[in-house]
Amino acid sequence: MESREEWERWYASPNPWGNEGSLEDRVRIGTLSARLERARFQLALDLGCGEGVMSHALSRRAERTMGFDISQRAIERAQARFPDVEFGQGEIREVARRPDIVRLPFDFVCAAEVLYYLQRDEDRLDAVQAISGLGAPHCLFFFSVIVRGDSKYRRYFTLDSFLELIDPYFNVIDSFPFVALRPMWLDGMLRILPADIGVRVLRRWTQTRTVESCKHVGFFALKRQAAGSSTRRLHEGAASHGERRVEAPLPLARLGGGEGSLTPAPGPSATRRTPRAAGPSPFPRA
Ligand SMILES: C[S@@+](CC[C@H](N)C(=O)[O-])C[C@H]1O[C@@H](n2cnc3c(N)ncnc32)[C@H](O)[C@@H]1O
Repeated sequence: MESREEWERWYASPNPWGNEGSLEDRVRIGTLSARLERARFQLALDLGCGEGVMSHALSRRAERTMGFDISQRAIERAQARFPDVEFGQGEIREVARRPDIVRLPFDFVCAAEVLYYLQRDEDRLDAVQAISGLGAPHCLFFFSVIVRGDSKYRRYFTLDSFLELIDPYFNVIDSFPFVALRPMWLDGMLRILPADIGVRVLRRWTQTRTVESCKHVGFFALKRQAAGSSTRRLHEGAASHGERRVEAPLPLARLGGGEGSLTPAPGPSATRRTPRAAGPSPFPRA
């Protein structure tokens, strides 16, 4: 599924994956929320936000949150349900290049479970390049993708292929299990446990796995400040010689609360909530 028409058909009725409230969804959202437990953002952006459940969770960490999705139907549902978030329709690459969006000082940008819907490598690279043009210099980016298995509608990554894709533009500062694969005995157990306990069990199981043995993996990244210039050329040079560049991560904005939650770089916004980010809203108001 790639075109807007296909996605509108997909969203003909609500919750088309029958997914919302599933253990996987709750584990993904719970894991990201816990990692960001002590983070406070001024302006967050959720790309490929679907019906807005994750955007809504992010809005608890941000003064102002925006979400975009290719499907107008998904966006209308999201907006009706989560009025605290500003939703808009748009294809990810077009949104990421809109002048009114590019000039906003996002300090958190999320692209969760969306990039593998782009089928061609050049479109994926184009999307990652466009996303890297977003946000303030200190913006924290979050990506999540599926790195195992096959699907009729999607072209998944492998862990290495995703890291290679974003490497020219982003410095990955953390990668972590988002939803682990599970053995049959655990599947059986999850089927009979009450949902709330099942979520805790699957989260705990996921936390004990390595990213190599996960289905969904999460990544925090910072954009390479010199993307497009010297850092990029270095990468291209290394790639053309068949080398894999290994680079020390940037200093990690440090871990705060439970489960390795990530707190933004020290500064006023890390310790107190500040007024809404300045700048006009790109969303037309009735
Ligand atoms: C699996 S859902 C993920 C929803 C949400 N990000 C989450 O993690 O729960 C994928 C979403 O990406 C959207 N999408 C797919 N291709 C897109 C594109 N090229 N531009 C914008 N959104 C896209 C779909 O409409 C769908 O809502």
